[in-house]
Amino acid sequence: MPSTIRVDVHLQADDLARALRDDVFLGLGERPRTLPPKWFYDDRGSELFDLITRLPEYYPTRCEREILEREAAKIAARSGADTLVELGSGTSEKTRILLDAFELTSQLRRFIPFDVSEQTLVDASQAIAAEHPGLDVHAVVGDFERHLPKLPTGGRRMVAFLGGTIGNMDPLQRKAFLSDLRAGLAPGDSLLLGTDLVKDPARLVPAYDDAAGVTAEFNRNVLHVMNHRLGADFAPDRFAHVALWNATEEWIEMRLRSLDDQTVSIPTLGMSIDIEAGEEIRTEISAKFRLAKVARELDATGFELDSWWTDSAGDFALSLAFVR
Ligand code: AVJ
Repeated sequence: MPSTIRVDVHLQADDLARALRDDVFLGLGERPRTLPPKWFYDDRGSELFDLITRLPEYYPTRCEREILEREAAKIAARSGADTLVELGSGTSEKTRILLDAFELTSQLRRFIPFDVSEQTLVDASQAIAAEHPGLDVHAVVGDFERHLPKLPTGGRRMVAFLGGTIGNMDPLQRKAFLSDLRAGLAPGDSLLLGTDLVKDPARLVPAYDDAAGVTAEFNRNVLHVMNHRLGADFAPDRFAHVALWNATEEWIEMRLRSLDDQTVSIPTLGMSIDIEAGEEIRTEISAKFRLAKVARELDATGFELDSWWTDSAGDFALSLAFVR
């Protein structure tokens, strides 16, 4: 049976442009100033993130792959899913590990990649449909903070949210996200969640401040994105990359620290901002988890933790949770 491909578009280029303007207007207007991490990922940012995943200091990607390679067959069987949904799928090779495992169980009928980039989804859908004859690919172009209610229904779904991306949300955002996701799922559906774990800051901090300076360039890239997309005139090299461990919140924070007094204008937003020497813009949080915290947050949003797997070093975890 040949595969079918369908692409639902819930997000247009001008929706994204509006979301960017709102985020920047609000974030740069508040104190401390913030910029949401989702805007890191233009072509250059995605390329830099790809380089990050191969740095010696950045362990999460390798750890998650180790778990997937070891447990994918068990995950497929345990989930009982006939539909695999992947949030923020990109072109991910992790998807392929899962798809191959599902393939061996012959239970998979449908793959639903969900991403903000239509082109990425179209390319990935064609490649995956060609590699998995008979698999129906139903791609959804959307923002998982807004379009979860548009998730295709039917069958028994397992939603994979990998990479530790949930760590970019603060506790309130995680609660809203997990509740929205839960609201669109049905009994028997499940969530496969990747979370980075709390560990010695001596390992956490270098993972976000590598010796080669790739993460610093990734961090500064968000300013290039502002210049390019909003006509701003940030001077990225007048900002220092800062990565620190917030022990109270148990998250890594990335910031950009102004090296001198500077005035930045953002004509598209009619904004001109004075940034003092030493002032910092927070560009990302990356929360780290413990088993109890994951179980509690899942429980509070209508999920029940079923299985918990870590890599051999205990650095990263995958959780499988069913809707309650
Ligand atoms: C893609 C969100 C999982 O938080 O570790 C990597 C992004 N930022 N280095 C993370 C990131 C700096 C990454 N996530």
